[in-house]
Amino acid sequence: MVTSVNRLKLIWMAGLLALAATMSLALPGARKPIGQKTLLLREKRASTEDLELSGNLPGLPANAVRFVSHSDLLKLPQVTVTVTDDPNFKGKTEISGVYLAEILRALDIPEKDTLIAAICDDKYEAHYPVQYRAEHHPILVLRINGKQTAQWPRTSDDGSYGPYLVSHASFTPRYRVLAYAEEAQIPNGVLELRFLEEEEVFNAIHPRGDFAAGSPEMLGYQIARENCFRCHNADSYGGHKASMPWSTLGRVAQNNPKIFERYIKNPQAVNSLAQMPGFPEYDDATLSTLTTYFQTFSTEKGSK
Ligand code: HEC
Repeated sequence: MVTSVNRLKLIWMAGLLALAATMSLALPGARKPIGQKTLLLREKRASTEDLELSGNLPGLPANAVRFVSHSDLLKLPQVTVTVTDDPNFKGKTEISGVYLAEILRALDIPEKDTLIAAICDDKYEAHYPVQYRAEHHPILVLRINGKQTAQWPRTSDDGSYGPYLVSHASFTPRYRVLAYAEEAQIPNGVLELRFLEEEEVFNAIHPRGDFAAGSPEMLGYQIARENCFRCHNADSYGGHKASMPWSTLGRVAQNNPKIFERYIKNPQAVNSLAQMPGFPEYDDATLSTLTTYFQTFSTEKGSK
C-alpha cells in the first residue's frame, strides 16, 4: 500500500527525473547523434539504390562514407512538382523528391559555407553552392511520374536514370557572362552527395594571381566553375569524367590557345573520337576569357 508520504516521495522523484531528462537534452555541446529520427545512416551499401554520402558529415571522421536507402529518403519531407523545362524529361513530367536543403537539415549540416557535389556513375559532378541552392531550390528526385527514378527510362538512350537525378520545379538563368547563360545543374545517374567547404572547393580553381572583378580571368573563372568543373578536376575537387585535370587544360591553353578554343567550341572538329560535348554558342570573346583564365594555371605542377 502506498502511503501518502510515499506518494509524495514518488511525485517528487518523478519530477526530479523529468528535470534531469530536460537538462541532459539541453546540455551544451551535447552532440545530437546523426541518422536517428532524421536519416538513418548505414556503414555499408545494402542496395544499388542506396545514396552514398561523404565529405563533412557531422560527428564522423573526414573520410567517412555512409549510405542512406531510397525508402529512408522517402521519409523526409517530400515535394511534388510538374516540370516542363528539364531536358532530362520529355514533355510535362511529375517529379517528387527532397530539396537538397532538406537533406542538409536532416544531417545537421550547416546551410552556410557548404557546397554539395552530386557525383554520377560516370564521374560527372554537378555542384550546388549556397547561392545556387537559394536561387534555384534543387530537388533530389526520388520518383518520376510516381515510379522510382531507377525504373524510369532515360529519354536520350536505352539506359535508366540510375538511382537519382537532380531537377528543379523550373529553372531561370539568373545571369549571363558574355555568351554563357547560367546553366541548370541537372545530372542523372547520381550515386553520391558530397558535402564540402565551399571556399576550399572554389580556392582550388580560383585564377592564380590577383585579378579585378570583371577581368577576363574572373569572367573565365565563373564560366569554368559551372561548366568545365563538372568533368575536369582540380586535385580531388570537380568531376573526374574527363580524367584531364585543370593543370593540363592550363598547359593546352598556354601552348596551343587556338586548339584550346576550337576544342571548346567543337571537340569533334579537333578529335573525331572526342566525347566532350561542344559549346558552339560561345563566341570569340567568351572563348578568349576561358583561355586567359586557364593560362593562369599553366605553370602549376601536374596533379591528378
Ligand atoms: C561533360 C563533360 C565535359 C565538360 C563539361 C567539359 N569537358 Fe573538356 N573534356 C571532356 C573529356 C571526356 C575530354 C577527353 C577527350 C574527349 O573525349 O573529348 C575532354 C578534353 C578536353 C580538352 C582536350 C585536351 C587535349 O589536349 O586533349 C580540352 C582543351 C578541354 N576538354 C577543355 C574544356 C573546357 C575549357 C571546358 C569548359 C568550358 C570543358 N572542357 C568542359 C569532358 C568535358
